[in-house]
Amino acid sequence: MASPAVRRALLGWGLALCCLWCAGAGWSGGHEWKKLILTQHWPPTVCKEADSCRNSLDYWTIHGLWPDKGEECNRSWHFNVDEIKDLVPDMKIYWPDVIHPSSNRTQFWRHEWEKHGTCAAQLDALNSERKYFGKSLALYKQVDLNSMLLKFGIKPSVNYYHIADFKDALTRVYGVVPKIQCLPPQQDEQVQTIGQIELCFTKEDLHLRNCTEPGEQLSPKQEAWLAEGAAAQGMAVCEDGPVFYPPPAKTQR
Ligand SMILES: *[C@@H]1O[C@H](CO)[C@@H](O)[C@H](O)[C@H]1NC(C)=O
Ligand SMILES: *[C@@H]1O[C@H](CO)[C@@H](O)[C@H](O)[C@H]1NC(C)=O
Ligand SMILES: *[C@@H]1O[C@H](CO)[C@@H](O)[C@H](O)[C@H]1NC(C)=O
Repeated sequence: MASPAVRRALLGWGLALCCLWCAGAGWSGGHEWKKLILTQHWPPTVCKEADSCRNSLDYWTIHGLWPDKGEECNRSWHFNVDEIKDLVPDMKIYWPDVIHPSSNRTQFWRHEWEKHGTCAAQLDALNSERKYFGKSLALYKQVDLNSMLLKFGIKPSVNYYHIADFKDALTRVYGVVPKIQCLPPQQDEQVQTIGQIELCFTKEDLHLRNCTEPGEQLSPKQEAWLAEGAAAQGMAVCEDGPVFYPPPAKTQR
C-alpha cells in the first residue's frame, strides 16, 4: 500500500496528465461532435447573482453556439476581433457580455471562439471566425426566440408561468424539443427562475433538431460537461412546475 504522500503525488500526476490529455482531446478521444447547441440567456436572471450586470436588457441574448463535445480544439487559433469587424454592431446588441458590461467585450467573444468556435470550425460552414460568429447571429435571428415567446403571450411577469408553458410553446413553434434551464429557488424564494434556453442544430445541415434523441445515453462526464455552461451561472435543467420569468430592471434615467 503506498503511503498517503505517494498516493497524493500519483493523484497529482494523474490530474496533470488528465489536464493535458482530457482538455486536449475531450473525454473519449478526438473532437467528434454531433450537434450544435445555440444557447440563449435571459439577462435579468443571469444578473440575479451578479453586481453591475446588464439586468435591464429586455430580450434573450446569445450565450454561445457550442458543439456538444470538445473544447479548445485548436489552441493556436487565436481570436482576432478585426476579422469580425462588420459583425460587431450586431454582436454588441445580440451577444453582449451581460455579466461584465464594463470589461472589454471582446474578452467574452474571445472565450467563446477559443473554447467552442475552434471546435465548431471542423465544419466548412463554420471554419473561420467570420463564419462562426456570422452563422451564430444568423441562427439567433432565424429562431427569433423573443418574438416566438411573445407570439404565445409569454412575457416577463410577476405572475408565475408553468415550465410547460415554455416547453409546449417552443416545441410547437420549432417542432423540436428545446432544453430549458433555471436558477433554482434562492434563499426565501418559492420558485425557480428561467434563465437559459438551448436549441439544437444538426451537424450536417444546421437544421433544428431535438436536443436529445430517444434512448440517447450521455456519459456522466458528458452530462457534466454539457451542464457546465449553465452550472457556471448556477443553473440546471428546470423542474416541472411553476417558474418565474423576471421582468427586466427598470433603466435608470
Ligand atoms: C489551427 O489553427 C491554425 C491557425 O489558424 C491553423 O494554421 C492550423 O491549421 C489549425 N490546426 C488544425 C488542426 O486545424
Ligand atoms: C479590447 O481588447 C482588444 C484586444 O483584445 C483591443 O484591441 C482593444 O483596443 C480593447 N478595447 C478596449 C476598449 O480596451
Ligand atoms: C423529438 O422529440 C419529440 C418528443 O420527445 C418526439 O415526439 C419527436 O419524434 C422527436 N423528433 C425527432 C426528429 O426525433
